[in-house]
Amino acid sequence: FNINVTVVGSCNTDLISYVPRLPKQGETIQGSRFSLGFGGKGANQCVMAARLGAKAAMVAKLGADSFGENFIKNFKDNGINTEFVTVTDKSTTGVAPICVEEGGQNSIVIVPGANLLLSEEDVYNAKSLIKSSKVVICQLEINPQTTLAALKLAKNFGVLTIFNPAPGLANLDREFYTYSDIICPNETEAEILTGLPVKSIVEAKMAAQMLLKQGCGKVIITLGEQGSVIATTDTSEVIHVPAQKVKVVDTTGAGDAFIGSLAFYLAEHPRLGLEESVRRATILAGISVQSPGTQTSMPWATDLDPQIFS
Ligand code: RIB
Ligand code: NA
Repeated sequence: FNINVTVVGSCNTDLISYVPRLPKQGETIQGSRFSLGFGGKGANQCVMAARLGAKAAMVAKLGADSFGENFIKNFKDNGINTEFVTVTDKSTTGVAPICVEEGGQNSIVIVPGANLLLSEEDVYNAKSLIKSSKVVICQLEINPQTTLAALKLAKNFGVLTIFNPAPGLANLDREFYTYSDIICPNETEAEILTGLPVKSIVEAKMAAQMLLKQGCGKVIITLGEQGSVIATTDTSEVIHVPAQKVKVVDTTGAGDAFIGSLAFYLAEHPRLGLEESVRRATILAGISVQSPGTQTSMPWATDLDPQIFS
């Protein structure tokens, strides 16, 4: 396989309503706009990496429905290998009804459907793909046991593993840390994992050090407009990487833009190193929050200043 970034993860059709605010219980309110989009953390991260130019593949499960068919076409349109994207008639393609409030904040319900049927066996079927990859990315929108199997398989082949523990899961099995080269939660997920408050940069640095002690080599906690912090076992210093101020339109998928970009740099430009890769991934996530939608807001290489690739 001529693939550098493989994502083992979720596909959801995003049903996005733009609303002035969230409805209260029993209340009906009117939204201003609706859009149907390709989403799911796994698919989003894969698409971001591919749009930047990574040779990317997806390992995922879709339902035998029109949402699923469109998903395969979308992967192909983004140049993504779909050999290990399989279809089941036992469930529906995942969906995510999303409300985006004025100001760009979002609330999401996920109905995983077929995502939960992606099995350990499906991961083993993709063994040679995983082995030939430079980076494997996983999240928590599929069965956690499947995620763990993918992390283990990749790590045992010496492939760099990036684990995005999203959505947050308390009491995560220690093995998730030991098989992750890089764990990358956002502030909320870091709070769930550590039980510590993660609002300020100082708090994030403490949480990052606590996560490092769980046994992974590197921790990146993303903090939205505050940027991110990086902790590694190489040094006791925790680095803060700031984000540039941008006009926020829609934050949906910003974390995925960050992780997909990070994987792209680590796989395709390894000489940049982690801190510079994080810096550039932050810029790319910042671009994605300035336009509506999830994948619709992710830039293509040709839209970008060539400096971001030099
Ligand atoms: O991270 C954003 C994604 O989370 C959305 O695309 C939605 O599908 C949910 O999975
Ligand atoms: Na966006």
